[in-house]
Amino acid sequence: MFPLNIRTLAAVAALTASVAALAMGGRPKGDDEAANSRIAPVARVEMAAASVGAAAGARSGEQIYKGACAACHDAGVANAPKLGDKGAWAPRLALGLDGLLKSAIVGKNAMPPKGGSDASDTELARAIVYLANKSGGSLKEAAAK
Ligand code: HEC
Repeated sequence: MFPLNIRTLAAVAALTASVAALAMGGRPKGDDEAANSRIAPVARVEMAAASVGAAAGARSGEQIYKGACAACHDAGVANAPKLGDKGAWAPRLALGLDGLLKSAIVGKNAMPPKGGSDASDTELARAIVYLANKSGGSLKEAAAK
């Protein structure tokens, strides 16, 4: 059901980024790295969004997280606050689930709307609870569980 894993995604993203960097005129090596980090998140999101399998609406927070959010939030791509990084999450947790859900729905800076996923609002909320509670939070899912 999940033919793509994160390592595959990262490899594809890096490849895509290198090709893009070449297409932009084969700049010196140092610039390639900068281009990689600018382009890779977008490439990963497109792949990640495609890999969220199971029936829409019924997926757990962990399923959504691993399929659509881990690509950025595991490694801190584009300065995404990392899973487990309590310091990075503390000020965000102050927004509460409602506040975090609002910004996740519309996106925030380098984070695309819904993290580029096809998650329903309920699924997105579950993913936020999963992510936040592994990062020092104690959010509660509203109704669903
Ligand atoms: C393309 C990379 C990327 C993906 C994919 C991604 N995020 Fe993010 N996310 C970010 C970045 C970058 C930030 C920090 C935004 C800022 O504050 O500038 C962020 C911030 C957040 C925040 C905090 C928002 C706030 O108001 O402080 C939440 C919650 C969040 N992401 C949840 C998710 C969830 C849930 C998913 C998966 C459905 C996801 N993200 C997927 C990059 C990503």
